Amino acid sequence: MSHWAGLPSAAAKVNLLLLVVAVLFSWSSLSDRVPEFALTKIEESDLKDDSGKEPLTEDDADPEDLEVFYPTHQWQTLRPGQAVPAGSHVRLNLQTGEREAKLPDSEDGKSEAREERRRKRLAKVDVDANSFTSQELKKALAKLKESEKAERKAREEEVRKKFRPIEQLKEEFEKLNVKMETDYEIMVKLISKFNSSASTLADKVAALYDLEYYVHQVDNAKDFLSMGGLQLVIEGLNSTEAALKEHAAFVLGAALSSNPKVQIEAIEGGALQKLLVILATEQPLAVKKKALFALSSMLRHFPYAQQQFLKLGGLQVLRSLFRQKGMETLHVRVVTLLYDLIVEKLLLEDSQQEDQLEEKILQYRQVRLVPAVVEQDWCAAVSGLLAAPEHDTREKALKTVAVLMAFCRERYRRDRALSSTLGLLRREYEELAAQERSEGDKDGYFGELLGSVNTVIQQLG
Ligand SMILES: *[C@@H]1O[C@H](CO)[C@@H](O)[C@H](O)[C@H]1NC(C)=O
Ligand SMILES: *[C@@H]1O[C@H](CO)[C@@H](O)[C@H](O)[C@H]1NC(C)=O
Repeated sequence: MSHWAGLPSAAAKVNLLLLVVAVLFSWSSLSDRVPEFALTKIEESDLKDDSGKEPLTEDDADPEDLEVFYPTHQWQTLRPGQAVPAGSHVRLNLQTGEREAKLPDSEDGKSEAREERRRKRLAKVDVDANSFTSQELKKALAKLKESEKAERKAREEEVRKKFRPIEQLKEEFEKLNVKMETDYEIMVKLISKFNSSASTLADKVAALYDLEYYVHQVDNAKDFLSMGGLQLVIEGLNSTEAALKEHAAFVLGAALSSNPKVQIEAIEGGALQKLLVILATEQPLAVKKKALFALSSMLRHFPYAQQQFLKLGGLQVLRSLFRQKGMETLHVRVVTLLYDLIVEKLLLEDSQQEDQLEEKILQYRQVRLVPAVVEQDWCAAVSGLLAAPEHDTREKALKTVAVLMAFCRERYRRDRALSSTLGLLRREYEELAAQERSEGDKDGYFGELLGSVNTVIQQLG
């Protein structure tokens, strides 16, 4: 990521620095941030150095989840378009040309950012339990998705407003005759580094780690495809080296995200089978985690892949993760994927828009997800997560229980453990919500969770 190479004189450097500071931090005070810039290291920037950065391993900070950036007390790189929670510190690293953010050092800021994150992630399914029909559920879901979308958009706008000056910066740099490598050139280099027999394992992992950053952009991902990079990472899934498998899956998942062209090429290139093999066999958790990420990116909004996934027994493979030891952290991700797939289909079937492609609707009809879900007893797998200690996990489980209710109601009514878990959750969230209100937060996170618990209890009634 050395596209800030070849800076001119020291004086110009300082000018650039000031320019950067001025545009990026016009909204906040400069004084305490200027020393953060790695001014003395500008010339040393080098791909290898940069990619030697520890890949994120913490569950909470897993980069694939991030539309919203979850800051920690360490500086971490921001991706284009990521929303930064209020109160985070942001800087531009001149060594890498990347924006970085972290939590402010005070304890207060930390809990504030957390709360913000919680609030943002929460989405209550707004259903009147007494007259519950699947039609209403669909409507509630449609509303839910809409508001999620609107919210995301607003946040993206906000972030874009703050960071748009980067484009202007590029122009300024060009005027000053600073050579910046294009993304295309950088990707060519990274692919050849990954493909070279002269590269060490560490070199290859580093190349993949950097590629992941570039292929997030739709146009870059298309270039990546035409350069032959996609096929290389699909083959990388076969590697005997766990680290290569893991990072190949990571790049693949990033390239696949919301990119239909890459989705089609990847499924034709055999990626789906390879990912399922990884998930079905004994592999380190980190490898499975990234394979699940790539699988999710492959399946979302791609009914053809969903059909193939069901045909290949993919749903059973995911179900088996609930029976393996040590895979607990994957459960909530699996349930989130399931939720997304079910909701995606419901929304499409329910949409009255005439402009929906007939073809797509026909394809979704062939995705027989719900019968398989009921048959494999996903009802229990999902409700089991309600007993998890993390609020985030419970929140996802509650949402999914609500969408499964139409199909799992009888199963749930007979489940004594479930009703006692729901009772415990209600008590816990009543307390937490009361505390929240007493602190002046009327629409707090715990209040919302309490609402979701009560809705589920009423639906079971
Ligand atoms: C990878 O290397 C092989 C052998 O050197 C070469 O034939 C192939 O074209 C390379 N692939 C890409 C995408 O660069
Ligand atoms: C990769 O794995 C698949 C099975 O997933 C196997 O059929 C194929 O032969 C393997 N390819 C290589 C190059 O090892």
